Amino acid sequence: MKKVLIDCDPGIDDALALALAHGNPELEVVGVTTVGGNVELEHTTDNALRLHDFYGMDVPIARGAGRPLVREPLTAGDVHGNTGLGDVLLPEPKSKLSDQHAVDFIIDTLAAAPGEISLIAIGPLTNIALALRKEPRITEWAAEFVIMGGSYTRGNRNPAAEFNIIADPEAAAVAFGAPWRTVMVGLDLTHQARANATVRERFADLGRLETELVTPCLDFYGQHISYRDEGPAIHDACAIAYVIDPSLIQTVSARVDVETQGRFTSGMTVTDFRAPADQHNADVATTLDVDRFWTLMTGALRNVADRLPD
Ligand code: BDR
Ligand code: CA
Repeated sequence: MKKVLIDCDPGIDDALALALAHGNPELEVVGVTTVGGNVELEHTTDNALRLHDFYGMDVPIARGAGRPLVREPLTAGDVHGNTGLGDVLLPEPKSKLSDQHAVDFIIDTLAAAPGEISLIAIGPLTNIALALRKEPRITEWAAEFVIMGGSYTRGNRNPAAEFNIIADPEAAAVAFGAPWRTVMVGLDLTHQARANATVRERFADLGRLETELVTPCLDFYGQHISYRDEGPAIHDACAIAYVIDPSLIQTVSARVDVETQGRFTSGMTVTDFRAPADQHNADVATTLDVDRFWTLMTGALRNVADRLPD
């Protein structure tokens, strides 16, 4: 089993990413950390706790940074709803938060098992940057570092920038500048993972998981995007899928730098596939095996659905 530590900002696609990680038999989730992003930290943390209990998980959840390193917070309530899960309000959580701050939790968890844990970030990179500043050796301890964020052809928050990067470009610059390889699962890849009508038929018999979470979340998520007919892109689950089975996603080695100063391009992940190999700092996801991805997702959701606590 591969161990994963997930830094997230739930968030509708974060919720599905957590379900994939929890429901897939190849992964062991060793912790979840939260960051302000899609909605305010108070809500992303509350959602992480509620999802944890709803799914029947049993892992520490640690609250992290509520504000970007430098800029004013940027949220995406238009896409994820004011509290982050569309109109869904899961039951009050019984689990309590970890006493540790997410940054310390990330450092201590990776330090305790060097080379064993994949660090996956599916929200703005604020906690990751703070952890790198506090303990640079996390780059040696993480088995791999995989993000959902960025893109090499387009943005979604604006023409140049993807949300997780533009929400904290300085933090993203720290993460890409650190001496590890970042696996960048960006929009070019995630826009291939569309929960269209055919895909959603595969979720039809998931019982309470379907009626209480997946369907209302996807209905909400689907309404608030411009490419409605193709179905919403389930971005964050793609980063989890890569860790489960890297053969699902083709990557290309490249140099990625984050624009932090552009008047129109701040938050852009400037990707140079032609840079000299010794300057490459990232494996950039390009092509998804769409069918196998949805098979993986459906199997994990089935497992979660079958084990939902009462
Ligand atoms: C990313 O931004 C958030 O809105 C999603 O949860 C995902 O992590 C997609 O750009
Ligand atoms: Ca997210």
